[in-house]
Amino acid sequence: MDFSLSEEHLMIQQAARDFANNVLLPGVIERDEKQQFPTEEVKQMGELGFLGMMVDPKYGGGGMDTLSYVIAMEELSKVDASASVVMSVNNSLVCWGLEHFGTEAQKEKYLTKLATGEVIGAFCLSEPEAGSDATSQKTTAIEKDDHYVLNGTKNWITNGSSADFYLVIAQTYPEKKHKGINAFIVEKGWEGFEIGPKEQKMGIRGSDTHSLIFNDVKVPKENRIGEDGFGFKFAMKTLSGGRIGIASQALGIAAGAYELARKYSKERKSFGTEICNHQAIAFKLADMHTQIEAARHLVYKAAWDKDNGNNYDVSGAMAKLYASQVAMDTAIEAVQIHGGNGYVKEYHVERLMRDAKITQIYEGTSEIQKIVISRGLLQD
Ligand code: CAA
Repeated sequence: MDFSLSEEHLMIQQAARDFANNVLLPGVIERDEKQQFPTEEVKQMGELGFLGMMVDPKYGGGGMDTLSYVIAMEELSKVDASASVVMSVNNSLVCWGLEHFGTEAQKEKYLTKLATGEVIGAFCLSEPEAGSDATSQKTTAIEKDDHYVLNGTKNWITNGSSADFYLVIAQTYPEKKHKGINAFIVEKGWEGFEIGPKEQKMGIRGSDTHSLIFNDVKVPKENRIGEDGFGFKFAMKTLSGGRIGIASQALGIAAGAYELARKYSKERKSFGTEICNHQAIAFKLADMHTQIEAARHLVYKAAWDKDNGNNYDVSGAMAKLYASQVAMDTAIEAVQIHGGNGYVKEYHVERLMRDAKITQIYEGTSEIQKIVISRGLLQD
């Protein structure tokens, strides 16, 4: 067993760290305040290869392993979780899903643009009444001649207005329940496809989250992903990897909050000494660091499982469950260590605290992760 990172992984980590500090950090407070999408920054992420890291180079990707991806995700998330969720959704839901289950023609047409970051994608599973209960899809896709007719509403869609290509899950045969669900590639601008208003969010305010409305949208049959009825499995298999991405985002938020708190505790003085010399603060740092290290091991292990062809449903869910709790706990303690300054935007930790919460909710709430983990443990 070797716990050290390879030269290549260290280079990726340094490149991601430099990008986060030089490009993302300067405008991150303003983007959060104005709920402004990081358009220019995402373009640069594409140019640097962060948007299609694991995709085969023949489709324009970086051909890297999952460990490279989670290392980069951690670094970006330390600074700007709004930018890193764009990266996570594009890499592990949209690109991965298309690369593994799309036809050659779909990959040529869509994946090549997504992997290079020429455009970004969105993953559309959630609905007003189908969040955790994902099999209860009300959006319908009814076959007609050479196409499907899509009707319904999707909710809380990351990259909702900034995406060009959307992977949309919809029910074709309601009587077959989840076995009647399909997944489709839908393009922005198709007749009947409307982007709803932007959600006003507590955290990750730089990312654009929208509802999407489909009114008799004609989707060509060649845009269905996989066999007829494969849509729910497509969503579940794709989300298993997506959860590793969100786990690494949570890890990054935790590590970012910890690093800020550690630095602050060595500068801020009270009762005649730097506050890190008070055991009340030093012990908080000890707990934070221990939990972050444990979270990192779970995230890396899940990535390793994926890279080595092992099942990663449970290890990915454990990584997300634990890392998101650590993100929340660490960010709260980082605010506490900063005292009054922790409540002020320019110190960054209040934003990290608000950003942390979503990691316990999207791509499967913590309660859903416990369903996945416990079912995995109990099956023989
Ligand atoms: N891989 C392959 N197949 C899987 C699977 C997996 N990981 N998990 C489940 N399935 C299959 C099951 O085997 C079953 O198939 P069969 O009937 O052929 O055996 C089928 O899917 C249905 O599974 P369940 O009976 O377990 O279904 P369930 O109703 O009990 O739900 C669940 C399972 C795990 C709770 C699932 O509904 C779930 O994951 N819910 C959460 C949804 C979610 O994560 N939403 C996030 C939205 S996306 C997002 O947030 C993106 C973003 O923008 C950031």
